[in-house]
Amino acid sequence: MKEKIIKIIDNLNDNGKINKKEILLLLTNLCDSENTKLSKIEIESLQEYLREKAYIKSHKIFGNKVYMRGLIEFSNYCKNDCIYCGIRKSNKNAQRYRLSKDDILECCDEGYKLGFRTFVLQSGEDMFFTKKRIVDITSSIKNKYPDCALTLSIGEKNYDYYKAIKESGVNRFLLRHETSTEEHYNKLHPKELLLKKRLECLKIIKELGFQTGTGIMVGSPFQTINNITNDLIFIKKLKPEMIGIGPFLPHEDTPFKDKDKGSINTTLILISILRLLFPFALIPSTTALGTISKNGRERGILAGANVVMPNLSPLSVRKKYSLYNDKICTDEEAMEGLELLRAKMLAIGYEITGERGDHIKHIFKQ
Ligand code: 5AD
Repeated sequence: MKEKIIKIIDNLNDNGKINKKEILLLLTNLCDSENTKLSKIEIESLQEYLREKAYIKSHKIFGNKVYMRGLIEFSNYCKNDCIYCGIRKSNKNAQRYRLSKDDILECCDEGYKLGFRTFVLQSGEDMFFTKKRIVDITSSIKNKYPDCALTLSIGEKNYDYYKAIKESGVNRFLLRHETSTEEHYNKLHPKELLLKKRLECLKIIKELGFQTGTGIMVGSPFQTINNITNDLIFIKKLKPEMIGIGPFLPHEDTPFKDKDKGSINTTLILISILRLLFPFALIPSTTALGTISKNGRERGILAGANVVMPNLSPLSVRKKYSLYNDKICTDEEAMEGLELLRAKMLAIGYEITGERGDHIKHIFKQ
């Protein structure tokens, strides 16, 4: 079995190829200690083998550079009631806030001075931000900072909405699919939300020419190895430019408050597989990874991730954008957060770069 797994990893590394059966075998043996015949030592050595391949692949392309994105969480109002999420509509304990256009521009100003050349605007699905209002904000940002990339992460919209923001200059769009298995999707989401709709949105986003990001939570309640296999197959077909994954973390005011956290190991294994599948992809070492373990973000980078997303939201609202419990970096000024992260990256031999970091396929199409 060990040799078989090594062969799968080698083939993935050399040719970028892996089929469904091989993914299932890889995940069953590396992530699912109950259903493998391998010993703990064998599993650990295979995990390290995979991680090292991904590390080398990432290093060959990006060197010791990590891209940074300034995250601005501009509203935590949300019309949805996703079971896992701390800012779900029915969480009456959430203190809702919405930043004004001036507030957002101020965050960009501060970020620009700190060297950020990508801003990521993220929010709940807040109906206040109509197409007109959001375009007013995005075009102002693009006018003021023509050298910066702008990313939105604001959920499901219709074609006209996505088209308008694309035309206003938005370069990238993040929309995690969360899980590509319908039965699982329906256990994580209220009945109004449909996997089909989510996938249609992703298709539109991709077709409109956004650098497209998708991803999953690792270890979300009811998730199986089969589900994750389907997710990797889905991601393989979509060919996103960005892939964001992080462990599921419970939030105390949600029905999933007593569910187990996702596994850091499985998250790292998936980052490595994704790096080998998509050598050029932009893969963040997420805040959730940094929350589940003190050196989680470093370990993400060493497993093949190449992006970090420090927070630029005003300190006064940081704690309110609470998707899960104990989220890190809610007490630090933007500058402090960046410097602490820079030191962490330096300690593992990596340098945070201020470059925009577009996906290679999009570098000449700005
Ligand atoms: N744990 C981990 N990640 C979460 N997200 C939302 N709630 C949680 C949670 N409890 C992730 C989702 C979403 C992204 C913005 O945050 O994957 O797409």
